[in-house]
Amino acid sequence: MQDQLDTIANETRHLAADGKVAQYIPALASVDPTQFALVVRTVSDDEYATGDADTPFSIQSISKLFALALAMEWVGDRLWEKVGREPSGMRFNSLIQLETEGGRPRNPFINAGAIATTDALVTARPDYAADLLRQMRLLADNNDIGIDDEVHRSEMATGDLNRAMAYVLKAHGNLKNDPFLVTNTYFGACSITASARDLVRAAMFLVAPQSGEAVCAEGKNAQRIRAIMRTCGMYDQSGEFAYRVGLPGKSGVGGGILMVQPGAFAACAWSPPLDRFGNSLAGQAALAQLASLVCAPGSVSV
Ligand code: DON
Repeated sequence: MQDQLDTIANETRHLAADGKVAQYIPALASVDPTQFALVVRTVSDDEYATGDADTPFSIQSISKLFALALAMEWVGDRLWEKVGREPSGMRFNSLIQLETEGGRPRNPFINAGAIATTDALVTARPDYAADLLRQMRLLADNNDIGIDDEVHRSEMATGDLNRAMAYVLKAHGNLKNDPFLVTNTYFGACSITASARDLVRAAMFLVAPQSGEAVCAEGKNAQRIRAIMRTCGMYDQSGEFAYRVGLPGKSGVGGGILMVQPGAFAACAWSPPLDRFGNSLAGQAALAQLASLVCAPGSVSV
């Protein structure tokens, strides 16, 4: 597996040259585009890593995966009164659909849906920002996971579109808390930094039940969360990712993509340059290659 990962890295990381690091969050625009990591952790706790596997990066929308897992624990089915479970087929930060569909976001992974989910979490847990960080640290077993204050400030300074979504939600009676508080909490979650190794460890509850203190460790909602990853995890490229890769995944504009195969492994690819959908270009190629290696009939088992 180690040799295979090194080969995948060599064959895919150059694709980053055709992508573009996220520009609309100024603090992300200066990230070194040549960084690359690919990490796999198996259900038997073996880990394989290549590249910058221990370099923390901005997890951005990958945080929506952990927010959803926590909302399913702390809010429960009432979450689905606020947000749907259908792919949006639209850009992750589109405002149009939210307006035309009466302020009910299509799913928890587009920005409007993540803001509605954050609102439900803030209502259920007034100290949610700290709770999220604590849960991520427990899941990854790493207390160094933190928030990048520069990225957080940068998002707060440029996040008008997200605030507009929060106000549309509020106008439709779908936001209980102050839009500024909710969006700033959402920006804080997006500004969490973790390495590819941290993320595969944190995602193991989606692969098999885990022990440990994290509230979602047992993975009782894992099947449902994986379903939403599969259908909505890559925004308006979710169908294409399902075709190319075939496993549930979740991307972020920091260039990370987290992917799981239940009962087998979690994988994380990181390469900052993105395609026009906001998904890591080399990251998708690396995960496609990994999936074809380990999921094809008669393939290598991890
Ligand atoms: O709110 C935003 O636009 C960013 N903080 C997160 C967007 C994101 O990661 C979309 N993912 N591909």
